Amino acid sequence: VKIYIPRDAAVLALGAEKVATAMADELAARGLDATIVRNGSRGMHWLEPLVEVETAGGRIAYGPVKARDVPSLLDAGLLSGGAHPLCLGKTEEIPFLKNQTRLTFARCGVTDPVSLDDYRAHGGLRGLEKAVAMQPAAIVAEVTESGLRGRGGAGFPTGIKWKTVLEAQGAQKYIVCNADEGDSGTFADRMIMEGDPFVLIEGMAIAGIATGATRGYVYTRSEYPHAIAVMSEAIEIARAAGVLGSSVLGSSHAFDMEVRTGAGAYVCGEETSLLNSLEGKRGIVRAKPPLPAHKGLFDCPTVINNVISLASVPVILDKGAGFYRDFGMGRSRGTIPIQIAGNVKHGGLYETAFGLTLGELVDDIAGGTASGRPVKAVQVGGPLGAYFPRSLFNTPFDYEAFAAKDGLIGHAGIVVFDDTADMLKQARFAMEFCAVESCGKCTPCRIGSIRGVEVADNIAAGIDPQKNRKLLADLCNTMKFGSLCALGGFTPYPVMSAMTHFPEDFEPVPAVEA
Ligand code: NAI
Ligand code: SF4
Repeated sequence: VKIYIPRDAAVLALGAEKVATAMADELAARGLDATIVRNGSRGMHWLEPLVEVETAGGRIAYGPVKARDVPSLLDAGLLSGGAHPLCLGKTEEIPFLKNQTRLTFARCGVTDPVSLDDYRAHGGLRGLEKAVAMQPAAIVAEVTESGLRGRGGAGFPTGIKWKTVLEAQGAQKYIVCNADEGDSGTFADRMIMEGDPFVLIEGMAIAGIATGATRGYVYTRSEYPHAIAVMSEAIEIARAAGVLGSSVLGSSHAFDMEVRTGAGAYVCGEETSLLNSLEGKRGIVRAKPPLPAHKGLFDCPTVINNVISLASVPVILDKGAGFYRDFGMGRSRGTIPIQIAGNVKHGGLYETAFGLTLGELVDDIAGGTASGRPVKAVQVGGPLGAYFPRSLFNTPFDYEAFAAKDGLIGHAGIVVFDDTADMLKQARFAMEFCAVESCGKCTPCRIGSIRGVEVADNIAAGIDPQKNRKLLADLCNTMKFGSLCALGGFTPYPVMSAMTHFPEDFEPVPAVEA
């Protein structure tokens, strides 16, 4: 009998290690024969630690489980999926999971993350097997045809980026995976690295073969120690099995990779700053052009893709561009792993085809606020994303639809706020965040963010609010169009959306009469 207890960082924070230890001790004390598999998380955070047991009728889930629940679970016949107050029935039938379309996260929480056999048994390596037998240009064409766009936030077509690198001249080319996941409320990259690292390795190897790059780096942050450990272990296993190395799957293609750790500066998620950090330099933004695709790591042609972009490639190669392209809407094709966080009942990871509305996500899937109070605003796309009021809840998850409402999908994190949120404070926070995280290279961001905090403080203090609101809007305009990179350029999104949709929070509070 197999018992699954996640090893994902979020679940460890909720006591999974204690649950696993208690389970091992209790199984031994009772002389029961069962194997504990440490899997990734299924992404239903309110049910974690989620313990699953394999039965003839499929996996049965129990959660949230505490170490003290273990004896009663075993008393109730856990090993055969027995009834218990914590029993949630078949895992796959839990509505939050059942209604998803899991293409990129198909194996996350299902397999043992560091078992290559398990990975193969669940469809892994089929994409790479096809890729080694294809011409590089044909692989690039397949990815282009799928409609896959960069999941880091900018939504640039992945196939076009790869084509630029394929056609660039250079004795050495690189694949760099941007795993510097810094957006508030996002955790999809971490979940893949901890829950299904081989899919990222496979995606990077395919990218290498497609563009002629023989070396890859996963750049992540020191705040992700579990992801670093699992990724590194998986790379060793893949190398020993001939998935990586001088002859990928026995072919004439060479590709090898390693994990590199940054110190955790938000701006190092910006691709050129990341490259500097990876080269051992200070993480300061480089001007573009030249594009990294032409002159990237150590001045060589470099593909930089987000974890989710690369992890979506194996299924595209395996099942074909048309299969992937069939999901989604407009120019947003395939699926998007949405990360639901903040004040919600059901937080977690929800992978679905593009097109679901923000309202469906917040009200139906996330179940509204945990506090039970009305939803006031939803910030979509990280700390630099816009705040959406309820009146915009009919916006479908689609790059263009969000841009049309002065917002962005970004890395697809949503953070929900109830009616106690003060949007002026949130606007001030955006400016403060930018001031703290700015690399300092350009004036609109370096100075503008500091001035932005001061102006927000003046509005809060009731000092000439009308003039200061206009000043804040002017400042946002300068930062949006004058900043060198997205940090300074996108900070205006949360500020302006807060001011546009919640003008009452920017009005001076009338003095209370004595
Ligand atoms: P960008 O629009 O400058 O570039 C997008 C990507 O396309 C880059 O990799 C760029 O090098 C590449 N590219 C552009 N033209 C190309 C061409 N002709 N050939 C090949 N490659 C080409 O966007 P940027 O500044 O890289 O990213 C901004 C986005 O980052 C924002 O939309 C924001 O949502 C997101 N973001 C994500 C964060 C995260 O934690 N994932 C954090 C902060 C921002
Ligand atoms: Fe650096 Fe900010 Fe300018 Fe970006 S916008 S280059 S983070 S100073």
